[in-house]
Amino acid sequence: MKKTKNDLMEKIVSLCKRKGFIFQSSEIYGGIASCYDYGPLGIELKKNIKEMWWKSMVQFRRDVEGLDAAILMAPQVWEASGHVEGFTDPLVDCKECKHRFRADQLEDVTKCPDCGGELTEERQFNLMFKTHMGPLEDQGSLVYMRPETAQGIYVNFLNVQKASRQKVPFGIAQIGKAFRNEITPGNFTFRTREFEQMEMQFFVKPGTDQEWFEFWKEERMKWYDFIGVTKEKLRFHEHGKDELAHYAKTAYDIEYEFPFGTMELEGIHNRTDFDLTRHKEFSGKDMSYFDDETRERYIPYIIETSAGVDRTLLTCLIDAYEEEQLEKDTRVVLHLSPKIAPIKAAVFPLVKRDGMPEMAQKIVEDIRPHYMAFYDQGGAVGRRYRRMDEVGTPYCITVDTQTLEDQTVTIRDRDSMKQDRISIDKIKEYLDERILFVG
Ligand code: GAP
Repeated sequence: MKKTKNDLMEKIVSLCKRKGFIFQSSEIYGGIASCYDYGPLGIELKKNIKEMWWKSMVQFRRDVEGLDAAILMAPQVWEASGHVEGFTDPLVDCKECKHRFRADQLEDVTKCPDCGGELTEERQFNLMFKTHMGPLEDQGSLVYMRPETAQGIYVNFLNVQKASRQKVPFGIAQIGKAFRNEITPGNFTFRTREFEQMEMQFFVKPGTDQEWFEFWKEERMKWYDFIGVTKEKLRFHEHGKDELAHYAKTAYDIEYEFPFGTMELEGIHNRTDFDLTRHKEFSGKDMSYFDDETRERYIPYIIETSAGVDRTLLTCLIDAYEEEQLEKDTRVVLHLSPKIAPIKAAVFPLVKRDGMPEMAQKIVEDIRPHYMAFYDQGGAVGRRYRRMDEVGTPYCITVDTQTLEDQTVTIRDRDSMKQDRISIDKIKEYLDERILFVG
């Protein structure tokens, strides 16, 4: 089995468009840079990734609560968080071709890598998108599009704690959109200006933070393995002092070996009491927690796990893509874990007669309340299998002559291409055993 590498990104981008995973935003107008739309299969894959995250971080844990905070927040939030002052990248412009670059990504900060022209002096560029709330576009109506979902959690820390009656240590999780006016977006959906994050903030007693940091680091690495990402392509990268964000004491990235380099997939940060202390200072509200067992009052430390939905989805696609050389041709297959695959089962009648289409359609309708299922009667069965392999459908069920006699079907496994014959009334059980996430 051979995996191509060099032109892998081109193939992924093309497959995404052709099969309806991801489209360029506003394509009919020539597209808008670094914005993407998720098509019918993309949205299923995205929904499944988010569901796997939510189950492992919230549903199966007694110590994490969910939240969905607004994207627009009081502008003071971003002053307190340090983003107004410090969420910047160093920007340089080429005086000749006018292209813009992040100075920290250039080998030579004096010469344009595109045309060799002279570059401007470095200046700090704030990555937050600004907009105005209400009819007046003045300084008083200025609001920011959140650059991380985390702050919505910090400002709600005591609301959630009191409402849920949780005791420290506990966490708050949220999935939502974030916006960054990146200077150099790129590599398809790897770095975009609008993206979705899956963040969890775990509030702990100071002094226990390092222990919890280690716990979450390991948990998060296990999750990628669980959703089927190749273990050997994942690694930890510890941030050096010069890489640390303004809020972090310690930080590790989970990195993946992308075709364009080994890069960050998720960040795990020890944010200490930085955020809650700053919100206390800026809002004048007490953000401390009172432990009624030990009678101690303190500002909790925060361990953050921060993953990108779009980046995880891209990773899953890249990791799953294979061009398999068979005897007569090449099979393109996405080895997505059945847990996240957009379509779980496809059902085919072997031929379009003898009542086979009706039986196949009835099977699809029976699967639909539980899993995404797809009916296909177009073309030879071999071609129908290939179409499903290409979009990562793990199971293909075929109704044939024997089905009419004994109510059994063949069920083909995408990866091994082996077929089992099972009774129609065992299909649901067969799928459950392979797809259900039981914690
Ligand atoms: N709250 C902490 C935080 O936002 P981060 O390391 O800046 O930390 C966390 O971002 C994750 O969000 C990244 O690991 C990545 O998966 C995703 N992410 C960040 N910027 C992104 C962008 N411009 N496009 C796509 N995903 C992005």
